[in-house]
Amino acid sequence: MILARIDNVSVRFGDKVVLQNLSLDIEEGAITCLIGLSGAGKSTILRLLNGLRKPDSGHVYVKGTDICCMRERDLIDFRSKIGFAFQFAALFDSMTVADNVALPLREHTRMRPEQIDAVVMRTLEMVGMETAREKYPAELSGGMLKRAGFARAIVTNPDLVLYDEPTTGLDPIITHVLTDTIVRLRRQLSGTAVVISHDLDSIYVMADYVAMLFEGAIIAYGKVEDVRRSGNPIVQQFLQGSEIGPIPI
Ligand SMILES: Nc1ncnc2c1ncn2[C@@H]1O[C@H](COP(=O)(O)OP(=O)(O)OP(=O)(O)O)[C@@H](O)[C@H]1O
Ligand SMILES: [Mg+2]
Repeated sequence: MILARIDNVSVRFGDKVVLQNLSLDIEEGAITCLIGLSGAGKSTILRLLNGLRKPDSGHVYVKGTDICCMRERDLIDFRSKIGFAFQFAALFDSMTVADNVALPLREHTRMRPEQIDAVVMRTLEMVGMETAREKYPAELSGGMLKRAGFARAIVTNPDLVLYDEPTTGLDPIITHVLTDTIVRLRRQLSGTAVVISHDLDSIYVMADYVAMLFEGAIIAYGKVEDVRRSGNPIVQQFLQGSEIGPIPI
C-alpha cells in the first residue's frame, strides 16, 4: 500500500531547479530513508510531504488526497496528522519540554488539560524523556533535544512521521539510541516514516526502503540490499564515500 505519492514534481528556488520531474512513493508501515548530497533537496521533499512547500508543477498525494490543491485551512488540519521532527530541533526556548510537546495537542485537539498531560507523559516515556519534562531546551544535550523533537512529532499519533537528519552531529552511542527509538516508534505507532540521514550504518539498521536523490531526481529506489548492490556508479560512490567517481565535487 502506498501512503504518499510524489508525482512528477518540480521545485525551483528563483532560477535554481532543485527537484525536476521527481516521483517517489512512500510505502505504508515502512521506513523510507532518503539519502543524497547536501543541498540536493532532501528537506524540500519532506516539506512537500506535509504541504509546507507547494511544487511548481506535479502533485503530492497523501492517503489519496492531492494536498497541492488544499486550502490553507484544510492544510492545517492535514498537517496535524503528519509528524515533523525538524533538522534543527525547533523547540520553543521559553517553554518546558512538556509544554513544547503539548503544543500540537493544544492547537489541534479539544482534549482536556488532564488528558493532554497524560498523553504528553506517555509520549515522553516512549522516547525516554519523562525525567526531563520540566526542563527548558537550553538545559538539554543535543540527543535530548532530538528526542524532545521526536516526542512533539509523534504526540498526535500521526499517520506519517518525517525525520530530518535525526542523528547528524551526535555521538555514536546517541546515534544508536535515536536510531533504535525511530524503529521502535514506528512499531508502536504502526506508522510510516521518512527519514533523511547521512549515517549509513543507521540507515542499514532502520530502512525498509532507500531512495537516493541526485540532481533533482530519485536515481535509485528499493529495498536496502538492492540499493546497496546497485550498479549505478553514482550510488556506489555515494555509499562508499569516495571522492573518485562521477559525482562532481
Ligand atoms: N526557501 C528557500 N529559498 C531559496 N533557496 C532554498 C530554499 N530552501 C531551499 N533552498 C535551496 O534548495 C536546495 C535544496 O535545499 P534542501 O534544504 O532541500 O537540501 P538538503 O538536501 O536538505 O540539504 P542538507 O543535506 O544540507 O540539509 C539548496 O540549494 C537550498 O539552498
Ligand atoms: Mg536538509
